Amino acid sequence: MSRLLARRPVTALAVCAAALALTAPAAAAPEPVTAPAAVLPYQDASLPVPDRVTDLLSRMTLDDKLGQMTQIEKDALVPQSDLAAYRIGSVLSGGDSTVSPNNAQTWADTYDSLQRTALATPLGIPVIYGIDAVHGHNAVRGATLFPHNIGLGATRDPALVQRIGRAVAEEVSGTGIDWDFAPCLCVARDDRWGRTYESYGETPELPSALTTFVTGLQGDTLGAGPAPVLATAKHYLGDGGTAGGVDQGDTRLSEADLRAVHLPPFKEAVRRGVGSVMLSYSSWNGVRSHANTYLVTDVLKGELGFTGFVVSDWAAVDQLDGQSGFTGAEIATAVNAGVDMVMVPHDYKKFLTLLRGEVTAGRIAPSRIDDANRRILTQKFRLGLFERPLTDRSYTATVGSAAHRELARQAVRASQVLLKNDGGVLPLPKSARLFVAGKSADDIGNQSGGWTVGWQGRSGPVTDGTTILQGIRAAVTDPSRVTYDRYGNGIGSGYHAAVAVVGETPYAEGRGDRPGGLGLDQEDLQTLARLKASGVPVVVVLVSGRPLDVSAQLPDWKALLAAWLPGTEGAGVADVLFGDHAPTGKLPVSWPRTSAQEPVNDGDGKDPLFRYGYGLTYSGAGPTPTPTPTPAACTARLRTVASWPGGHQAEVTVENTGSAALTGWSVTWDLGGTRVTNLWNGSLTTAGGRATVRNTAANGLLPPGGTTSFGFTAEGSAATPAPDCAGS
Ligand code: GLC
Repeated sequence: MSRLLARRPVTALAVCAAALALTAPAAAAPEPVTAPAAVLPYQDASLPVPDRVTDLLSRMTLDDKLGQMTQIEKDALVPQSDLAAYRIGSVLSGGDSTVSPNNAQTWADTYDSLQRTALATPLGIPVIYGIDAVHGHNAVRGATLFPHNIGLGATRDPALVQRIGRAVAEEVSGTGIDWDFAPCLCVARDDRWGRTYESYGETPELPSALTTFVTGLQGDTLGAGPAPVLATAKHYLGDGGTAGGVDQGDTRLSEADLRAVHLPPFKEAVRRGVGSVMLSYSSWNGVRSHANTYLVTDVLKGELGFTGFVVSDWAAVDQLDGQSGFTGAEIATAVNAGVDMVMVPHDYKKFLTLLRGEVTAGRIAPSRIDDANRRILTQKFRLGLFERPLTDRSYTATVGSAAHRELARQAVRASQVLLKNDGGVLPLPKSARLFVAGKSADDIGNQSGGWTVGWQGRSGPVTDGTTILQGIRAAVTDPSRVTYDRYGNGIGSGYHAAVAVVGETPYAEGRGDRPGGLGLDQEDLQTLARLKASGVPVVVVLVSGRPLDVSAQLPDWKALLAAWLPGTEGAGVADVLFGDHAPTGKLPVSWPRTSAQEPVNDGDGKDPLFRYGYGLTYSGAGPTPTPTPTPAACTARLRTVASWPGGHQAEVTVENTGSAALTGWSVTWDLGGTRVTNLWNGSLTTAGGRATVRNTAANGLLPPGGTTSFGFTAEGSAATPAPDCAGS
């Protein structure tokens, strides 16, 4: 039987012939492609995608169409031929789905086998295969693991995040897989939430700015460049804003505040052409996102103009009626709300029976089925799946490549946030005699966190990489002068410093919710006590998915470096510890004084331990800007970005128009009877009908020509005040 062509530019004709050959009996030698089969319009790559979709839809049966709306877990597909028999349109690997042996080659072979089965159907519609590559191709042992999103938020570097997206796309493509359930564009507002580390930050600005990951995955135009992978903006809408940070909980906000805080990143992702959106398990004011027609159809597809497809979350449809298992009514509710593809993910036979029943009973209109199919097929055509259905093996070697690991190490460096550095104890001398302790000093699993070769991740040598201790030993002049004991046993005098690498062990989703507090665990506290008793200066490296409650211990530490969840390239932490790279990271979330202070966010008037945007560097690190003796001057431009009956949202851009760096600014305007209800990236005071917004710690420093922005929502119609700006 002739092998299907690999994912290289081939004509539809060749693929069509190859697909037909799949149904032919195994021939002694590949049949030469002689008289080309008639290429049907949907198989003609020279035609516009909308025309191909229309032609294909016209040839599809109802079962073909219902199958395209069905996504199943790879391991639930028994027998594999059901993929064709039930016309399944999508397969996924959930968090614990794997292959054996777990390596890129086996993943690619598995993908190609499934794809060949799918292509052996009358219309030969390829499957689209999705996976959570949320900090690298993390299901695959040996893949490059980048810092989790909270660390990338600390870099404040959209271009770096785009490069990471491109690297992830290459590794994902090297295993055949076409669709990444990333980036999470959640705006984490309460650090007790178990998915805080999946967020780029607590303000809408950071996730919005870092939607460059979408472009990294997809390319500027999906399918126009090499190794495109469909991106997923998730989880729509408000997953990071639930009361108490309860995963899958209820986000209780006015529409104005929901729009102001949680919608902007999705708006930006849609502007970037994101191909899919995954809904959130959570609810908004008691209505589950998977049942919210207003948010999904009216706002996302209507107002934002999203033309990709909406996928439900894992078994989320089952939750709608509060009973286990899914029903026809739940399926109809979700599909009519705007879900185009259902992540079932197991009982596909029951699902398809119920879905067909809802259509034939008239509770789901054929037009809704066709709209869902049009959206799904459009992305499959744009991805090039019909022309290049199989793995492009030229990318398989990129999995865990040296180039990607170097990029990841760069990202680790840029994500480090220095929060304390008494007496300039950092950077450490490479000749120093050091004692290293802590459960996460030599543990690739802890430094990688959840979603690492398994849904929850785990401690220990889970994959290939460099631990923080290995990075330290590689950086110093004489490794024999570095002593390590996980618990701090054996420390005595004579050490220049003790480096304690402590924090959290891996978790994912709700299992990471910490309603009881964010303190260090007992092992860490005991280790730190031993180090403190020795009198040796203590440098703490915190490996965690969020800020932890360390106020009580902080006075005993000479330095504190937030390392977040760096992934496989722990040497990036050592690069900063020894000063090869000065720390440049800025907090992507406010750091609470105590867990009781949660939720604590920029501009909410609370007084955190460290403010959003805070981060130190090394004194003498790089040339300090010489102030030029001219008056500070700035302008403020107000732009209404959205309005609705009785309210509006605005963004104000502050520009340093002088030739001296500003160390702060304030903007004042006449409220004109409106009332500011929410504000971000600034601190608000009002008096005499006028509003004054001052800079936060994060955005006070403005170089000449530099700009920053703040935003607000307000009750009342949008006036067009001319804000005054005063620099300092
Ligand atoms: C999970 C997560 C979602 C993920 C999906 C598939 O429950 O909520 O982020 O993409 O299931 O693994």
